[in-house]
Amino acid sequence: MSCFSSADESAHYGFSVCMLLDQYREQLRWEHEEIVELGTGDATAISDVVQALPGLRVRGFDISGPSVDRARANIAERGLGDRYAVELGDFFDQADAAGGERASTVISNPPYIPAPDRDILMPELWGGVHGNDLVLQLLKAGYDNVVTAVASYADPLTSVRTAEDLGYRVVNFLAMGLDFGTYSSEPKVREHIRRLCADGRGWAGDDEYMVAVALFTRNPEIPGDRGDQLLRALQVDPAPAVPAVAAA
Ligand SMILES: C[S@@+](CC[C@H](N)C(=O)[O-])C[C@H]1O[C@@H](n2cnc3c(N)ncnc32)[C@H](O)[C@@H]1O
Repeated sequence: MSCFSSADESAHYGFSVCMLLDQYREQLRWEHEEIVELGTGDATAISDVVQALPGLRVRGFDISGPSVDRARANIAERGLGDRYAVELGDFFDQADAAGGERASTVISNPPYIPAPDRDILMPELWGGVHGNDLVLQLLKAGYDNVVTAVASYADPLTSVRTAEDLGYRVVNFLAMGLDFGTYSSEPKVREHIRRLCADGRGWAGDDEYMVAVALFTRNPEIPGDRGDQLLRALQVDPAPAVPAVAAA
C-alpha cells in the first residue's frame, strides 16, 4: 500500500474546502461541532485548512496504513493534533461508531478512479466501475452537508441527479482543470475512461479532465441550486438527449 500523491489535486481540494467552509461558516456551524473527513491521505491539504480556520475541528479516516502514519506525523509537525485527528479504517464503518453527536458535515476528496475492477496502481483509489461509488455512498450516508470532489470522467450526471433525488442541492463549487496524473494515466484506467466518456458517462480530454469541489446540502437555510452549472463546468450536458448507455 502506498500513500496518495497528487499535489495539484490536493491543493485544489484544500483550497476549495477552505473557501466553502469560510463562505458558509454561519450555516454549516463548524465552530460549534466537529466535521468528519473520508480519506485524509497524508493530511497536508486539510491541515492547511485547520490552520487557516481557528475553531475548525476535523476527525478524518483513511483505510491506508501508510497514509495514516504520514498524516499523523504531518499533523503533529504543524502542532494541530488538538483539532485534527486521524483514524485508520473504513469511513463508513467508523464515522458513526465512535458514539457522541453525529456530525452534520462531511468533507472528502474521495477515491474516484474508474476501472473494471480494483486491480489498479493504488487499489484504495478505486471508485467502482463508473468512478462515483464513494460519492454516491457519501450522499446516501445521511449527512446534511456533503463537501466532495466530483470528477468529470466519473459519471457526474448520475451523482448530481442522485443527490437531487435524495433532497440535496448544489450550493456552490470550485472547478479546476487537471492533467491526467499517475493514477488516471495507467493504461487500463485511461482506456476505461475513454469508454465511459464515449458512453455518455462523463468528460475527459486527451490528457485532462475537470474536478470540482462542491457543497451539497439539505439545509433549507443555505440558498443555491447550482447542479446544472456544476455539470456544465465539468463539460457535461445537464440534459442529454440520449441517456447514458447502461453498464455492461
Ligand atoms: C483521492 S485520495 C485523497 C487524499 C487527500 N484527502 C488529498 O486530497 O490529498 C483518497 C483517499 O481516500 C482513502 N480511502 C479510500 N476508501 C476509503 C474509505 N472507505 N474510508 C476511508 N478512507 C478511504 C484512500 O486511501 C486515499 O488516501
